[in-house]
Amino acid sequence: MRIAVLTGAGISAESGIRTFRATDGLWEEHRIEDVATPEGFLRDPGLVHRFYNMRRADAARAQPNAAHRALAELARHHQVTLITQNVDDLHERGGSPEVVHMHGSLLGALCAGCGHRWPASLVMRAADPCPACGRPQTRPDIVWFGEIPYHMERIWEAVERAQVFAAIGTSGQVYPAAGLAQHARRAGAETIELNLAASAVAGDFARRQTGPATRVVPEWVAGLCR
Ligand code: APR
Repeated sequence: MRIAVLTGAGISAESGIRTFRATDGLWEEHRIEDVATPEGFLRDPGLVHRFYNMRRADAARAQPNAAHRALAELARHHQVTLITQNVDDLHERGGSPEVVHMHGSLLGALCAGCGHRWPASLVMRAADPCPACGRPQTRPDIVWFGEIPYHMERIWEAVERAQVFAAIGTSGQVYPAAGLAQHARRAGAETIELNLAASAVAGDFARRQTGPATRVVPEWVAGLCR
C-alpha cells in the first residue's frame, strides 16, 4: 500500500526534544523573528547559531523512540513516503530508509553567499568559511519562516498518490505542511491524525488516534502490518 506520513515535533517529544508551541515550547523562550527568519539571521547571526547549536546538541543526545522505530517497520511492509517537519535525525537513526526533510536538517550547513551545502559540525559559527567560496556566511540548512520548504514537488506527488495519509505529532499551524491532509483526502486517501490532542486541522482527517506517539504509532503500524 502507498502510505504518506507527515511528522512534527510531537513524535520526538518522548525522546526529550522540545516541541514549539507547548507551554514549555521553544517559541515560549525564543522569538521566531529572531531565530527562525532570514532577517533575524542577518541582524544577529551569532544568536541564531547559538539557538541551533543548542538544538543540535539536544538532538545528538536524544535517542529514537518506539514511534520512530514503528515507522521504520512500516516501511518494511509498505511503500512509505516519510515527510517530516522535524530537523532532528531521529527518523534516520530509528531505521527509516528515506526521510524527506521539508524544513531542512540540523545536520546540514548552507552558505548564505553561494548556496553551497555541507555537513554541519556540532558547533557552527557564522564566521566559519564556506568550503566552496570561502565567505564567512555559514548558516544552518534550515527552512526559516518566509522561505520555501524543500522537496515540495515530491511531497505533493506522494500525497496525491497515497492510499493512506497520516499526520503524527504536528499542531497543523504551519503551511504548506498543514494543508497536506486536505490535499490527500481530496485525492481519495484515507486520512488519520495521531496526536496527544486535536490539531488545528483535525477536521481534515477522517480518523484520529489520541495518545502519546510511542503508544498510538506502534498500535497504528501493527494494524497495517498484520
Ligand atoms: N505524542 C504525540 N503528539 C505529541 C506529543 C506526544 N508525546 N507531544 C506533543 N505532541 C503534539 C502536540 O499536541 C502538538 O500537536 O505535537 C504537536 C507539536 O506541535 P508544534 O510544537 O507546533 O510542532 P510542529 O507541529 O512540528 O510545528 C511545525 O512549526 O515552528 C515551526 O518549523 C517549525 O517544523 C515546525 C513547524
